[in-house]
Amino acid sequence: MCGIIGYVGHRSASKILTDGLKCLEYRGYDSVGIAVLNGQNLEIRKDKGMVADVSSGSRFDSLSGSIGIGHSRWATHGGVSKENSHPHSDCTGSIAIIHNGVIENYQELKSSLLSKGHKFASQTDSEVVSHLFEENLKQFPTPLIAFSKTISALEGSYAIVLLSKSSPDVLFLARKNSPLVVGKGAGENFCASDFSALLTYTREFLVLEDSQIATIDRDSIALYDLLLTPKTPSFLTIDWDVQTAERSGHPHFMIKEILEQPDVVSAAFSADVSQVLPLLEKFEKIHIIASGTSYHAGLLFSILLNKYKSGKFANVFIASEYQNQVLPDSNALIFAISQSGETADVLQALRYSTSPHKVCITNTQGSSITRLCSHSIYLNAGPESSVAATKTFLAQLCVIYKLLFGDRYRDSIRSTILASTKHSAKIQEFSKSIITNRFIFFLSRGLCLPLGFEGSLKLKEISYLHSQAYPAGELKHGTLSLIEKGVCALFLAPKTPDATKLFGNLKEVKARGGTIFTLTDDPSFKSESDMSLDIVPQTDPLLYPFSFVVPLQLLAYYSSVSLGINPDRPRNLAKSVTVE
Ligand code: G6P
Repeated sequence: MCGIIGYVGHRSASKILTDGLKCLEYRGYDSVGIAVLNGQNLEIRKDKGMVADVSSGSRFDSLSGSIGIGHSRWATHGGVSKENSHPHSDCTGSIAIIHNGVIENYQELKSSLLSKGHKFASQTDSEVVSHLFEENLKQFPTPLIAFSKTISALEGSYAIVLLSKSSPDVLFLARKNSPLVVGKGAGENFCASDFSALLTYTREFLVLEDSQIATIDRDSIALYDLLLTPKTPSFLTIDWDVQTAERSGHPHFMIKEILEQPDVVSAAFSADVSQVLPLLEKFEKIHIIASGTSYHAGLLFSILLNKYKSGKFANVFIASEYQNQVLPDSNALIFAISQSGETADVLQALRYSTSPHKVCITNTQGSSITRLCSHSIYLNAGPESSVAATKTFLAQLCVIYKLLFGDRYRDSIRSTILASTKHSAKIQEFSKSIITNRFIFFLSRGLCLPLGFEGSLKLKEISYLHSQAYPAGELKHGTLSLIEKGVCALFLAPKTPDATKLFGNLKEVKARGGTIFTLTDDPSFKSESDMSLDIVPQTDPLLYPFSFVVPLQLLAYYSSVSLGINPDRPRNLAKSVTVE
């Protein structure tokens, strides 16, 4: 989702903003822009396209000045165009603003501003902010008061940074339901939509809370509530290093992040779950809420709770549907799983829940989810830059196993993951056959069901191949009608007691002309397959899900690369989705 970066200090702002926008590319975007102020000269350069193209085409480097703001936009209101790119200005060209989120009352504000003679240059909701500030500057004695009045008039979600000739040394910041952090430097300060854009410069961060305003200049950071009552900023230190946020010689972040997973197992198992274990013991009813890949981790969590912990009644919910499916229930223990900690659907579900006991499982310290939960468990997976979640998914599974079984399985899981990372070449070869199919079903049962869902999501996310995951036994209740020659089914087939039933499902597909692919350690599956990979180590039945994590990620990765797609930046998708 949109990225924000701001700088005030002694260095060239345009360089820092451009570098920061590159670091934020992983979030997904369609246009970029910067505004730099030099004395009374405010210049905005922006366009649709990628950071490298727009920054060179629009000569970002020719802007001098040591205060500025930069933005990467993922279109919501208004199409992808130069005019709709941020920063937006006012009627006089004296103000520049960047905004993430959605201003829900923008039409009302816009009509009122239009009636006062304001001229709008874009179709965005965001542009009302600069015009409203322009208007308020005329009415209120200081730019800070004008800013707080502007912010107070907004409904919806926002992370906003504003630059104005009226206060040429200051950046004005505000946040509600959209992340914004301040990075503290020496003789310079920064702000961004997430830590990763600033790790080259600082480890000390202030995370703005909802309905807070901040001002930063080169030497100071001031924090206020909306009524401008000063607040004491409390800084946290982020221990992610820059290297973990770099590609380190790999062609893509995704493959780097897949291959570093053996270490992720150890890091995730070091998570502190001590405060949560008593809650897990105590509560019978458990609601798990998540989206996308995190939902698949949640699905495995719910299966394990129901099947292996007696007296537990666990349900997993797609976050965006939580409010539609249950009444608020204060007797349920809530687990919210989100690697970013900023997924709007998850945050909204947490706000809806009346339970006083909410646990989040997240990779991001200080993220919004941690503020909405009574307990936080950190994944310790380090920064994940590829849009498609890989190592954070594994870390989620590890934390779930730690919650349920302690450290008992840590070493076996690590060995399984390590062994799977060595199968790259075989999976690359396998992927060449997969991508020749126009439709790919992922079929699995039992504990491997969530892995089938995740493997299919990963494949469609980054290779754009049409794929769908099913519980293998459900296929015959309708979807089997789609099976014919040219349709392919990939079976996740561990040698478990359930294997006979899965084998029957394989025969059903085969009898109808479907092409059979298997990932299996079971010879009978192998002999019935058009193509089979024997890369699933025999293991404790409880651990079979881990056998498929890396192979399915590699399958998606190599399919994407073979199809000439950049797996790190799938079209239309964003890493952290901050709108509902
Ligand atoms: C987006 C990403 C998915 C991710 C989902 C949930 O849709 O593209 O890859 O799984 O958000 O993200 P979260 O940060 O809540 O785990």
